[in-house]
Amino acid sequence: MPSLGVNIDHVATLRQARYRETPDNPNAEPDPVTAALIAEKAGAVGITAHLREDRRHIQDRDIFLLRKKITTKLNLEMGISEDILHIAFQIRPEDVCLVPENRREVTTEGGLDCVAHDKTLRSAIARLHDVGARVSLFIDAEEKQIAAAASLGAEFIEIHTGSYANKFGEERATELEKLRRGAAFALSLGLRVNAGHGLNYENTKPILALPGLEELNIGHSIISRAVTVGLETAVREMASLIAAG
Ligand code: PXP
Repeated sequence: MPSLGVNIDHVATLRQARYRETPDNPNAEPDPVTAALIAEKAGAVGITAHLREDRRHIQDRDIFLLRKKITTKLNLEMGISEDILHIAFQIRPEDVCLVPENRREVTTEGGLDCVAHDKTLRSAIARLHDVGARVSLFIDAEEKQIAAAASLGAEFIEIHTGSYANKFGEERATELEKLRRGAAFALSLGLRVNAGHGLNYENTKPILALPGLEELNIGHSIISRAVTVGLETAVREMASLIAAG
């Protein structure tokens, strides 16, 4: 059964909407670290946070506090910049998910290009391994990318489910089949498989049938649902949905 990693970025988005200049102000709320502890209590097996170069949501203090306080595991999502790599080397997360980053995007839009960035990725992966992190590459379910990811020495790929999530009806079924073939190909090359992006309470169930799927990283829909039912309930509902398969 796949497990649930909860992405808490959008708790920080809400805080930054009011406290962009002063995230340490005692009034600054909501606190993503408190949210992470609630998510753990409600069944998350890990906490994911994306420290973006533009610091639009998660801040450095959040990452350092998460490292100290969470008791499951930290999955640091990051682009490959020296600045963020140095933070990763200091905090030594259990997992790192490398993603492409573009300052103009609203959220991560596509997967990494493991072919074009072979050299940079290879070096970042080796340096992250040196501090004990397992590395996952966030990629589209394309054979070329999966084969390149396998050659780079990362343990995991995280299959980008965004285009599956944004299609409906037959088009969604076609996307699901692409994800299924991609996961099977990755497993055949010795990669481990996670998935995420755009998953919600309506579209997650079919994803659970992907071969070898270990972890789903879900953020926006859980944090959105938490506004109406509370975070603990929102995480419990998603964890039960996954457990029910
Ligand atoms: N996985 C990766 C690599 C992501 O970039 C994101 C978005 O930050 C997620 C999972 C979670 O996506 P969502 O917030 O749409 O659930």
